Amino acid sequence: MTPPDRRSPSPGRRATDWNPRPEGSGAGCRIVDLPRITDPRGNLTSLEGGVHMPFDIARVYYLYDVPGGESRGGHGHRELQQLIVAAAGSFDVVVDDGTETARFHLNRSYHGLLVPRLVWRELGNFSSGSVCLVLASQVYAEDDYYRDYDDFREARRAAEAAGEVGGAAAAR
Ligand code: TYD
Repeated sequence: MTPPDRRSPSPGRRATDWNPRPEGSGAGCRIVDLPRITDPRGNLTSLEGGVHMPFDIARVYYLYDVPGGESRGGHGHRELQQLIVAAAGSFDVVVDDGTETARFHLNRSYHGLLVPRLVWRELGNFSSGSVCLVLASQVYAEDDYYRDYDDFREARRAAEAAGEVGGAAAAR
């Protein structure tokens, strides 16, 4: 039997070391190439906390059955970090670190968008049947949200001034 074409990175290699493609970054976020085990029977991608993203996974959630033209998100997080994957179909994620905005079109099940804390995000342009899979560093907590953009901007500026997060140039 022919073995499947295994293209995943070698064991022990960390996601943060992998190919953070310069063209796939902006506003403090970046595309991470996820391991892919291609197989004539169907392809497989696995995600491990602390390996394929720089945090342990505390929560998984997914958006599905999104009606055409709808958008989600429209908030920032105090502490939460996320890896966003188009598990099926495609959608756009617009991220904003208070200084710079970037649009990512996610349409590959083996690409993840790493969104650190204190980034405003909006998701839209969902294709029919798309599934937005989110790996999150914390369990759900409403008090981790900034739902007002001005509050978010103020918190982001304070965190930058305190050296807790970099400016937009840090991600480039
Ligand atoms: P929200 O994060 O505001 O969704 P979006 O910004 O994508 O539109 O969440 C919508 C609702 O779902 C809100 O009432 C909180 C609830 N929710 C949970 O209970 N658990 C979760 O893990 C998430 C993400 C949301």
